[in-house]
Amino acid sequence: MCGIIGFCRWDGGEPALAPEPNCPLLGQMFRSATTMAPESHLEAHGAADAVARVMEGLHHLEYRGYDSAGIAVPHNGVLMVRKDVGHINEVDTQQNLSAMTGDIAIGHTRWATHGGVTQANAHPHTDASGRVAVVHNGILENYLVLRRELLAQGILFRSETDTEVIPHLIALELQNGHPCLEDAVRAVCAQFEGSYAFVAMHAGEQGKMVGVRLDNPLVVGYAEDGAYLASDVLAFSPHATRMAQVGDGEIAVITQEGVRFIDAEGCEVQRKTVPMDCKWADTALNGFAHYMQQEILAQPAALELCSMREHKELIDAAFAILGARQVVFTACGTSRHAALIGRYLFSKVAHKFSDVLMGSEFGYFAPALGTDTVVIAVSQSGETADVVEGVKLAKQAGARVVSVVNRPSCLLADMGDYVLRLKCGAEVGVAATKTFMCQLAVFHMLAHAMANRVDEGRVELSHAGELLYKMLHGLNYSLERLAFSLKDSGHFYYIGRGINFATAMEGALKMKEISYIHAEGMPAGELKHGTLALIEQGTPVVAVCPNDETYADTMNNVMEARARGGYIIGISDVPSDSFDYSIPIPVVSPLLYPLLSVAPLQLLAYHMSVLRGCNPDMPRNLAKSVTVR
Ligand code: M6R
Repeated sequence: MCGIIGFCRWDGGEPALAPEPNCPLLGQMFRSATTMAPESHLEAHGAADAVARVMEGLHHLEYRGYDSAGIAVPHNGVLMVRKDVGHINEVDTQQNLSAMTGDIAIGHTRWATHGGVTQANAHPHTDASGRVAVVHNGILENYLVLRRELLAQGILFRSETDTEVIPHLIALELQNGHPCLEDAVRAVCAQFEGSYAFVAMHAGEQGKMVGVRLDNPLVVGYAEDGAYLASDVLAFSPHATRMAQVGDGEIAVITQEGVRFIDAEGCEVQRKTVPMDCKWADTALNGFAHYMQQEILAQPAALELCSMREHKELIDAAFAILGARQVVFTACGTSRHAALIGRYLFSKVAHKFSDVLMGSEFGYFAPALGTDTVVIAVSQSGETADVVEGVKLAKQAGARVVSVVNRPSCLLADMGDYVLRLKCGAEVGVAATKTFMCQLAVFHMLAHAMANRVDEGRVELSHAGELLYKMLHGLNYSLERLAFSLKDSGHFYYIGRGINFATAMEGALKMKEISYIHAEGMPAGELKHGTLALIEQGTPVVAVCPNDETYADTMNNVMEARARGGYIIGISDVPSDSFDYSIPIPVVSPLLYPLLSVAPLQLLAYHMSVLRGCNPDMPRNLAKSVTVR
């Protein structure tokens, strides 16, 4: 998680040659030092201040973590570091980050793993001399061993982080004769266990930054006036025109002459650049109070788009799934809830059995995987560490992988034999909403492709989009009022059966993560096996009970909860006196109910969050991209 970014300004301004698609070595495309433009040319192109660019990038990366932030720039032969606890704006106020300037800068926004949320633990971290600075994402699993060795050599630590070993080790390698930062970085990476991405600067090598990654994202952005290294293209999308992935285990070296890549042995590597997908990265709030609200209301249009997806990509994945002896979904959080619904769709529409394993539990089943397995990896970010790890194991066992992802370029897309993209644009709110909807839409289409009924699936989805649009606009105000009446509740329970039980789980997850109210979702039939003991007079019980095969049984469970005093909020297309509050949804084909019943649950959680004074876009302790295990 954590967001890392570095920006290095080109001295020569814009490239001498227009970038060629897939040109391997971008450094060659930029003017050499002897042909650099005069100062006036730089001004004409608005020479960027690296700190301003890094701060702008950190704002875009805050979804990855926002408990502390910091920046480092070269200053008088050492590196000046300013960092503190809080969001980037708060740190700017406390430490006056904006007053820093430079041609090159690195920055970080943190989600704490090792060490509490303190100024000392915030990044960047430096070596004792203050001449090497590092921003890091990921976990160094053997950092305690390395730390002990460094302590034995008399090196003092100022933080509790795993990260701090990196600048100390780099400084030692430089002292021990490695001629340059990239060589020192190569040498220290050989000592690390775990997964990481980090960017380093050395005061002795002006105008250079070096980035490396292993199982964590790191991309290079090419702008007219400089180059970026960042966790995500969102950090530089307003400025960069092209981007390139840093390969796993590779090192990117950015100087004022250009960008080059080397592998773990120090050999030059050729990396393709691709144009930036700026439309995808358009993250303006467009007048909405929060991204989450905007993203909930974007769902009908996203469904319509999903219904138009290409036939061939669906058919290819469908054949692979149908031909497999075992089909296993792996995912976490909201994406896992989508997978649980996908599982029902596969079974109902295509009569294909599949299972769903939590990303964090997947590895324990690895011995049962083989060449006759298809693993469907579902992840909005495409970089969730638990899912990535499972997919690695699956590939080692010879399984084929269908990746269902939203980000245009991500680890899971690279690992997939088949890639199905959600194509709903960047989701900024930490709470997943439109990506969940699109995951359901992809599974709807895929299940219909497996049954050779793609066109039917398309029509159904498009129809669901129209109904959703009307429903969302009609329900918003009443859900805000409902939220107002329930905002002081201590606990919520969500129930549903069959294809609807994962909707209940998702409703509960939304409620707890953004409003900080305890909420539990479960199959309605499980209520009486324990949880019923917690239902008291007035306890809100949200029942997802559309008029499908689950209706009668779910209503029995509703009556059981009601008999214990539960305040029943029913989501259904059938009105009932057993509901204390009714959220009406339209009548649709039974397989489409999750698409319609999840939206009011998202809106209810959103209003609850706002009314309780929380920030729905940045819930405490969480981050959008979970790249640690
Ligand atoms: O990027 P992913 O879809 O792999 O993320 C998985 C979960 O961390 C994520 O769905 C999380 O549960 C949501 N942000 C909750 O709204």
